[in-house]
Amino acid sequence: MLLLLMLSLLSGGSARVVQDFESGCGKFLANGKSPTRFPDPQYRQICQTLNNKVYYATFYDTHNKIPVYSAYKFEGLMGCTRRDTWYIEPQIDDNNGGPNMEFSTALNIHIRGDRQALSKDYENSGYDRGHLAPVYLANSQSCAEATFTLTNAAPQTKCFNRVFWWEEEESLGKHLGKCHLNVYIVTGVVPGTNYINSRVNVPSHFWTAYCCLDQNNKCSDSGGVIGTNVNDSIIRKMSVVDLEAELRKLYGRAFQVFQYK
Ligand SMILES: *[C@@H]1O[C@H](CO)[C@@H](O)[C@H](O)[C@H]1NC(C)=O
Repeated sequence: MLLLLMLSLLSGGSARVVQDFESGCGKFLANGKSPTRFPDPQYRQICQTLNNKVYYATFYDTHNKIPVYSAYKFEGLMGCTRRDTWYIEPQIDDNNGGPNMEFSTALNIHIRGDRQALSKDYENSGYDRGHLAPVYLANSQSCAEATFTLTNAAPQTKCFNRVFWWEEEESLGKHLGKCHLNVYIVTGVVPGTNYINSRVNVPSHFWTAYCCLDQNNKCSDSGGVIGTNVNDSIIRKMSVVDLEAELRKLYGRAFQVFQYK
């Protein structure tokens, strides 16, 4: 851990896996405050970096090999295009890994995915690589590209991803287009009981919460949504407070998305 800290200092703070993403990439967090970070050693804090630019923050679970949540800002609908290749996070498995997300190449072929999912885990699994920070809400094409890292994805049933969750993203994007304040969004998953490839947890739920932060650092408009990760998903909209109460039950411990509501 000390080595990672030194690496992050040496690389001018652009390192991806950091000790504290409130200081590393707090600008993606409402009031610079993180959602709850579980203290167990299996979790990593990632400032998601592509070509030395940071685009959002992810709290990652190296046991389940899926994120807990990604936190990002919304700045309008940009109509970014998708890509079909995915990055991995070198520093999750390699203390000498570089700060940028990378494709699996000859350079990092030694990364076996001991602590993260690889593309081959998803191939033929029957599940989509469901984005947490989504392409649709990305604020630039390069930001959209930066969402294509497996540390920002979890196995999602196809109909849920392509129909129900997509409709939620679309309606959220249209709603937030009217919010001319600083918009902070957090999307997360709850681990389930199944695994793909005996390695990567299939979440039981996907959830999202948003906050339009006003000049007094209060959420002047906020809301939450949670859906079950099955093809005929049931999606429920609720207040952030109610979502947090639901997540407390599902995670089995206290969970707060925004410090100020
Ligand atoms: C969801 O539906 C897709 C497409 O019909 C199917 O391939 C997949 O097996 C289903 N997944 C689950 C978990 O039922």
